[in-house]
Amino acid sequence: MDSTPPPRELLEMAIDVARDAAATAHRMRAEGVSVAATKSTVTDVVTAADRAVERQITDALRRLRPGDAVLGEEYGAAEHGTDAPARVRWIVDPIDGTVNYLYGLPHCGVSIAAEVDGEVVAGVVRNIHTGEEWTATLGGGAWRDGRRLRCSTETDLGQALVITGFGYHPGRRAHQARVVAELIPQVRDIRRLGAAAVDLCVVAEGRADAYYEKGLAAWDQAAGGLVAAEAGLVIGGLKGLAPGPDMVIAAPLALFGPLHDRLAELDASGGP
Ligand code: IPD
Repeated sequence: MDSTPPPRELLEMAIDVARDAAATAHRMRAEGVSVAATKSTVTDVVTAADRAVERQITDALRRLRPGDAVLGEEYGAAEHGTDAPARVRWIVDPIDGTVNYLYGLPHCGVSIAAEVDGEVVAGVVRNIHTGEEWTATLGGGAWRDGRRLRCSTETDLGQALVITGFGYHPGRRAHQARVVAELIPQVRDIRRLGAAAVDLCVVAEGRADAYYEKGLAAWDQAAGGLVAAEAGLVIGGLKGLAPGPDMVIAAPLALFGPLHDRLAELDASGGP
């Protein structure tokens, strides 16, 4: 008998765990944070809170669903409690927007997604400071505070407010900056807010028109990507590829083609 819960139940679990995790992150920020270590480069920081919050989330998920797999930003793949391959995998970013968190900037969040058989079916992103909480289930829409989310209806790339982000590798940043320099005269403006999961939710709400970034990991895009898709955005990579580390574009149908083509011309998935 299949004991995999429906997406709604997985979402309820994720919401409870994300709320507790966001409370811990908020409290630890109030108590003062500092850099605990660096990862890929000296600017890619991890705080004690990133680690503590991920542990809290992993422990909570394991209590709720001991047989599931967990993939987290700080500790990677956590072992699951049975020998059978897990159908459910949780994808966790304990603090997306770590640099904002470190500086006390309010754009950062906890992100938890549930994947069943390799497909993301439920996701929650919760802003650590404002308490804004975005949720989605596959086929069930994207929501915030009981309000169903619909993305922008903008059709003109020249009028589009586009969010992007930059990686931590200096060479990658230089390439990304060159792409932005070419793109910015052709759109309304560019925003770099600093937390990919939250950015995708902001675009899902129509508070910006589109988003793109090279270099996202699964934990950056799993929950926010579902929220964006369920709000009506087209999510894809370049040249027919699935969204992934090379490129994630999230745009309303009418903008996806023009933004995609411009990014392809600018070799936005190129560079280191
Ligand atoms: C980063 C943020 C940032 C994005 C980077 C991510 P982290 O995640 O989402 O906005 O531009 O690509 O790595 O390191 O804060 O969890």
